[in-house]
Amino acid sequence: MTLRAAHQLIDDAPRILDDPVAVQLVGEEGRAALSRADSRVHSPGARTLRAHVVIRSRHAEDRLQAAVSRGVDQYVILGAGYDTFAWRQPEWTHALRIFEIDHPASQAAKRDRLSAVGLGQPENLIFAAVDFEHETLRDGLARAGFDFSRPAFVSCLGVLMYLTEAAAYGVFDFVRTLAPGSEIVATFRSARDGEEVGASPLAQAAAAVGEPWLSQFDPFALQAKLLADGFSVVDLVSGAELEVRYALKRRDGIAPGRGISTVRAIV
Ligand SMILES: C[S@@+](CC[C@H](N)C(=O)[O-])C[C@H]1O[C@@H](n2cnc3c(N)ncnc32)[C@H](O)[C@@H]1O
Repeated sequence: MTLRAAHQLIDDAPRILDDPVAVQLVGEEGRAALSRADSRVHSPGARTLRAHVVIRSRHAEDRLQAAVSRGVDQYVILGAGYDTFAWRQPEWTHALRIFEIDHPASQAAKRDRLSAVGLGQPENLIFAAVDFEHETLRDGLARAGFDFSRPAFVSCLGVLMYLTEAAAYGVFDFVRTLAPGSEIVATFRSARDGEEVGASPLAQAAAAVGEPWLSQFDPFALQAKLLADGFSVVDLVSGAELEVRYALKRRDGIAPGRGISTVRAIV
């Protein structure tokens, strides 16, 4: 939420992701803190992370729009966190049902935050609390009224590294059982930097607040496995490619890392 709000308040127009709701969510105190926070928002690491976060959402939402234009009418946001799409829906979502799936504690915190800033629940949004390590996505979505006979677009952004390798593969296995035409866009931690999964400063910061990173994947091995498992299309998307698409020649110079950490797979 803070990174998205920082992009609105600090970076130059045009925004990569227009997200006034994030600014609303951080509240007055958050906005004031952002205007004071020097190194936390202006350091090279903070700028790269911020670009990564807003670009991964923008990319997923662009893919969602393409899926909707071919008839997909269910959007499943796995590990939604403070994703704000449901509160800033464009015209083309009028027939879309949106499922926000998240860990019970995260979802409760978000719902509290939404009430605190006076944001209600959009009519076409369904919340479902699911701990991916302890309940199947199928059960959680069935409980929420998901229609398994229709295709869905699934985003899983900034989530897989918090899951064990088995639970992360479980996410792809689940998507593979959805109706043909379903698609997932997911980000993952790349194993190609030669670092242990928990070794980076970001991973250490996450572990320090009780959210250790547990999995990472070699992009090409992941692609080969997903194709062998039966996805019809599996594309790896590099940060360099996303930079060219979304952040070329920006005045503020923000850009995501260049490695491969996004995969798009179609059933
Ligand atoms: C860094 S946030 C990403 C939020 C959002 N997708 C985004 O792009 O900004 C990670 C999310 O993963 C969720 N998560 C991590 N482990 C989980 C688990 N075992 N079950 C369900 N959700 C989980 C957290 O609750 C949190 O909302």
